[in-house]
Amino acid sequence: MDNNAKIYIAGHGGLIGSAITDRLRELGYLNLLTRSRKELDLLRQQKVEDFFKKEKPDYVILAAARVGGIETNISLPAQFIYENTQIQNNVIHSAYISGVKKLLFFGSACSYPRQALQPMKEEYLLSAPLEPTNESYAIAKIAGIKMCQAYNKEYKVNFISAIPANAYGPGDNFNSKDSHVIPALIRKFQEAKLKKHPAVTIWGSGQQRREFIYVQDIADASLFLMLSYDSSMPINIGTGQDITIKELALIIKNIVGYDGDILFDTSYPDGIPRKLLDISKITVLGWKAKMPLKEGIIQTYQWYLQHGKTNE
Ligand SMILES: NC(=O)c1ccc[n+]([C@@H]2O[C@H](COP(=O)([O-])OP(=O)(O)OC[C@H]3O[C@@H](n4cnc5c(N)ncnc54)[C@H](OP(=O)(O)O)[C@@H]3O)[C@@H](O)[C@H]2O)c1
Repeated sequence: MDNNAKIYIAGHGGLIGSAITDRLRELGYLNLLTRSRKELDLLRQQKVEDFFKKEKPDYVILAAARVGGIETNISLPAQFIYENTQIQNNVIHSAYISGVKKLLFFGSACSYPRQALQPMKEEYLLSAPLEPTNESYAIAKIAGIKMCQAYNKEYKVNFISAIPANAYGPGDNFNSKDSHVIPALIRKFQEAKLKKHPAVTIWGSGQQRREFIYVQDIADASLFLMLSYDSSMPINIGTGQDITIKELALIIKNIVGYDGDILFDTSYPDGIPRKLLDISKITVLGWKAKMPLKEGIIQTYQWYLQHGKTNE
């Protein structure tokens, strides 16, 4: 990928897409192609085909998707399966037709079986049933990975798939209905601090273990893979470390400076007891995440204090 290569970042305004766009610029890639949803709705097949025909990007990073928390995954399964399959079908097929040299697709750790052994290796995909609450999203993501593999096999292209752990960082979505764990907890503790609430209640027992990765580490890994990974087999991007939700809540409580109590509402389900990616493959290739969790949460909290209100 030389510095003049034309690189299309689909979803450049999103959490991961914007970190990738910034990282590309930092590394001196200046021929970047971006379109807002208003300029190019990726659900519209003809528009996507016309765009690729006209612009002929050399490389594509497909970070556009319909993403959400557990609530929207449960209540909007049709939207999750339709929008994700439609976006990826349109972009992947047009990339093939227009002769794109390499494409990176993002899968999700939600695509691993519900009771997968931990840590989760790439070959566990499709080995057992999925978690029902995010099945539509997971199926769409698996279809994207399989589509890249099928196109590699039949059309001899170079379309790779990466599976990141839960992302967090500056630019995250702090909307109370649709946010992931870290932004949701930052917001809860900050509001409780300002309103002087005596306690913050967290859903579940707090004992479930999860893995989190700073978004700039995902961006760094993505570019590493664009430069050095050419296999059809998806590859995990993680830190190799997990933490209980209780430990995470304590870290965030301290960073925010909230001095009330934390209560755990066990009438809500915990979900899968543990979710940790096996990172042997990317580690052997020579990549490692850099941002320690605590420092990453401090950066995210600072960002929230500056931009959070407009992002809720
Ligand atoms: N965040 C995570 O923890 C995580 C973990 C593993 C994998 N992933 C995967 O990584 C990728 C990026 O995730 P993210 O967290 O960065 O998502 P995000 O913040 O929600 O960003 C998604 C981007 O896609 C754009 N988009 C959605 N529908 C579109 C459409 N019809 N036309 C044009 N643009 C559209 C959005 O534009 P608007 O802003 O206009 O909606 C937004 O810029 C996704 O494939 C996701 O499945 C994410």
